Amino acid sequence: MSGAGGAGRGGVIAVDGLAGSGKSTVAGVLADRLGLERLDTGAMYRAITFAALRDGIDPDDGPALTELARRVTIEVEAQVLVDGQDATVAIRGPEVTGAVSAVSSHPGVRAGLVVRQRAWVAVRGGGVVEGRDIGTVVFPDARLKVFLTADCDERARRRALEGAGTGSSEELSRRDHLDSSRQASPLAVAEGALAIDTTGRSVEDVVAEILERLMASETAGRPATAGPAEPPATAGSPGPDPGARTAILELAPGPVARAWYAVASGLVKVWALACFRLSVEGRENLPVAGPYLLAPVHRSNIDFLMVSTVTRQRVRFMGKEELWKVAALGRLVGSLGAFPVRRDKVDRESLRCCIEILANGEPLTIFPEGTRQSGPVVQELFEGAAYVAARAGVPVVPVGIAGSEAAMPKGAKLIRPVKIHLVVGRPLWGQAQGKGGPGPSRVSRSVLRQRTDQLRVELQKVFDRALELNRR
Ligand code: DC
Repeated sequence: MSGAGGAGRGGVIAVDGLAGSGKSTVAGVLADRLGLERLDTGAMYRAITFAALRDGIDPDDGPALTELARRVTIEVEAQVLVDGQDATVAIRGPEVTGAVSAVSSHPGVRAGLVVRQRAWVAVRGGGVVEGRDIGTVVFPDARLKVFLTADCDERARRRALEGAGTGSSEELSRRDHLDSSRQASPLAVAEGALAIDTTGRSVEDVVAEILERLMASETAGRPATAGPAEPPATAGSPGPDPGARTAILELAPGPVARAWYAVASGLVKVWALACFRLSVEGRENLPVAGPYLLAPVHRSNIDFLMVSTVTRQRVRFMGKEELWKVAALGRLVGSLGAFPVRRDKVDRESLRCCIEILANGEPLTIFPEGTRQSGPVVQELFEGAAYVAARAGVPVVPVGIAGSEAAMPKGAKLIRPVKIHLVVGRPLWGQAQGKGGPGPSRVSRSVLRQRTDQLRVELQKVFDRALELNRR
């Protein structure tokens, strides 16, 4: 699983260890001291287990659990929400604790959650990530890796004090054994990890040792990580939402969604050919593997449908959240690849969703001009497209669309059958090399501006070419 593995790796502090070793407490204090956010990946495995028990899925049924791990929505913050339901308390209960090792042993479940963990880091540029396989598998190039242990009696005592209801040393030993002996990403000390036995030591003491090691390794030559560029201001950007959703997405289409998409997109193609004699030039420019961002000009409501015809893969795009208020409509546009954004303008949470989608390997459309424009000149671009592509480490493919404005301009209710030409340009900023692309990078605001200017130039070229083809 090395595809998206570089997600913000420079800024990750990996805290792995045994149940009851003090991981969560240490990770929390460490995150506070470093001013970073913290991700409890154990809570994510518990959340999937909660959903499996809720849906009556057998903890040994790998395929069903893999499918579940793709579609369930999980928010792990102060509260843990599973498909919007508060599971903060239940995930710590004996039923979930008893089944979590079995559920987390399935490679498909792990793959689904690792994608989300890397996306979590990709959007933040770093963080304290605690779990069992963070230093070994999820972020093998973490800035610092820590592995915590404690003797079994002390761990059982701590769990009992936490009121975990799962504190017996037999239960802990059973879970340690299952977690260490499973085939997929077994619990192990990562190479180069700082191993600390926390038995009899205070949290402060342990955190102090970790910080000391961090400072020592960074002054010894490893560069301190530069802060990532803030998400660029976007039209109407309101700043982060306090209750922002971290994972609202169905991360990969299941078999039914895939079949439905094939049917729906087939119909769109037939319609586009019959109604607009649609032609596409430059399809060979699309990256052959891995996700990418399509950046088309925007002149009409039908643009996203036209763009979807350039590839057989499902192309994701943003839809106004209001569409999902009518359940059937939400399902329909969702099946065509749309995902909800809160306002009709792009906000930071939407940018996070975009990065998550790309990190998961799906292509995505962002109209860099923002809303629909008019005429043959590419208008001022928002920096969101360049930002998302850089954070996810994927190329941007400019797309010119000529004729869609004549077919259905702003304000029109009816669609006119006129000729439409699409021109796909060369990918900018690297060729994707498989799931996750060439690797995320941190770019400064000036680079973002520069890339956005370059995109505007390239977009104008493909737009001019499409207009020329349309005039012939
Ligand atoms: O840290 P915890 O006890 O809440 O974790 C619950 C279970 O989740 C643990 O028994 C194994 C699994 N887990 C995992 O397999 N990989 C991780 N990165 C985190 C947890």
